[in-house]
Amino acid sequence: MSNSFANVKQSHVFFDNSPGLKKYYEDWATRYDVDLADQKWVAPRIAANLVHLLASAYGTPDTTVFDAGCGTGLVGSVLRSLGDYVIDGVDLSENMAAEALKTHAYRKVYGGVDLSVPRRDDRLDQYGIVVSSGVFTLGHVRPTALLTLIEYALPGGLIAVSTRGSYAVETGFEDFAGSEKVAAQASLEFRLRDAHYIAEESADYWIFRKTGTSR
Ligand SMILES: C[S@@+](CC[C@H](N)C(=O)[O-])C[C@H]1O[C@@H](n2cnc3c(N)ncnc32)[C@H](O)[C@@H]1O
Repeated sequence: MSNSFANVKQSHVFFDNSPGLKKYYEDWATRYDVDLADQKWVAPRIAANLVHLLASAYGTPDTTVFDAGCGTGLVGSVLRSLGDYVIDGVDLSENMAAEALKTHAYRKVYGGVDLSVPRRDDRLDQYGIVVSSGVFTLGHVRPTALLTLIEYALPGGLIAVSTRGSYAVETGFEDFAGSEKVAAQASLEFRLRDAHYIAEESADYWIFRKTGTSR
């Protein structure tokens, strides 16, 4: 088993243990990009291209993007290569957030923000597009964190989320996405099924629209 494969696997054991997961990423931050590239990590590229598609189809010149669980900033880096986007990001890990800042793709990045806590950080705005790549995965956040992401979207805004295949099965993400709790706040626009994600397995990419209109 390669080190990179083992390092990804070891990140999957921290469900309901935010301090443990945070520590894991604090220690992994400077080696994360190399390990993930070794594992054919294409989720950030797909997520960024989805944001670009959504912004092209529905955005306005002042549409801003929120990268939830931005990690080292891979989504922001790809997105800034596609257009002149204003992107803010947060991450549980301070060191991952520090790596994201170094990309210069983001306007603001805050570490130490836990998306499992169902409250929007009051340092941040609401956004036309919220994106989350690789966060709805084993040992990371429960499906209920989707409600936090919806909170960060403007009324009528879009939320793009990847779900690793085995995570979606284990956590019942599809049932939660179809639940009354979600339906009260957002609707599913479309879903890319069984798309590329990482070498070991595929993922679904979900696009929700928050109820209401900002106009
Ligand atoms: C697999 S990495 C994905 C990073 C980046 N989005 C990408 O696509 O490369 C998962 C990220 O989610 C962050 N994370 C995990 N749980 C979180 C939580 N509860 N709140 C905020 N960030 C979290 C981790 O610190 C890590 O940076």
